[in-house]
Amino acid sequence: MKIIMLGAPGAGKGTQAKMISEKYGLPHVSTGDIFRANIKNGTALGMEAKQYMDKGLLVPDELTVKILLDRVAQDDCKNGYVLDGFPRTIPQAEVLEDALSKLGDKVDYAINVDVPDENIINRMSGRRACVTCGATYHIEYAAPQKEGICDKCGSELILRDDDKPETVKARLSVYHEQTQPLIDFYKSRNVLKEVDGTVSMQEVFDSIVAILG
Ligand code: AP5
Ligand code: MG
Repeated sequence: MKIIMLGAPGAGKGTQAKMISEKYGLPHVSTGDIFRANIKNGTALGMEAKQYMDKGLLVPDELTVKILLDRVAQDDCKNGYVLDGFPRTIPQAEVLEDALSKLGDKVDYAINVDVPDENIINRMSGRRACVTCGATYHIEYAAPQKEGICDKCGSELILRDDDKPETVKARLSVYHEQTQPLIDFYKSRNVLKEVDGTVSMQEVFDSIVAILG
């Protein structure tokens, strides 16, 4: 099963992708997580991606597409995957479609997690991420057991650089301009599913499970 998570920054794509990954045994592939791991390790790719991410802009398609195609060609992806944060532009979606069609394959579901802009800034300013394992928390809606410490690995939790309100506003406008058109793209492929992302994490997940079966 090949699933794409669509939605604004902070809509809950990562939260839901992790839950889907656990229930259905599919790898969770997040281009944002791959970039952040590269930034943490100080790779050339990380340094280049950081210049865009810190401004709330998209990393150029050439770079992003290559990374994603390399990742989904790995062995653990042969029975499917959940893509979180890719595609984000029509050209990225077309590259993925071409790569899959060469294998006689296609995307099965594009799930749009719908959350209005008003809710997004609050979600982002309360999000905390683990510097080591990437686990995500929210100070109000998904608090760690001990403030500032990751439940899973005991490392420090931080506010992501790009979660500051000014950068979130830039990310939202980039989303509306470049990513939202993917909703119509996948509608035209008959794989689009919409879920209300404003309800609790478990309720969002229940509606996704009702779709995936
Ligand atoms: P990326 O890491 O993908 O960031 P994003 O799309 O902005 O999405 P987020 O991770 O911020 O939000 P999310 O939807 O995963 O929400 P989450 O589950 O954490 O990308 C970062 C940057 O990398 C981009 O800006 C770009 O520069 C670059 N990049 C990445 N991919 C790229 C690509 N393909 N092309 C070009 N550039 C690319 O939830 C948010 C918060 O809300 C959390 O605290 C969570 O606990 C909480 N929450 C979740 N669900 C609920 C709920 N139902 N109720 C209450 N709280 C909730
Ligand atoms: Mg995410």
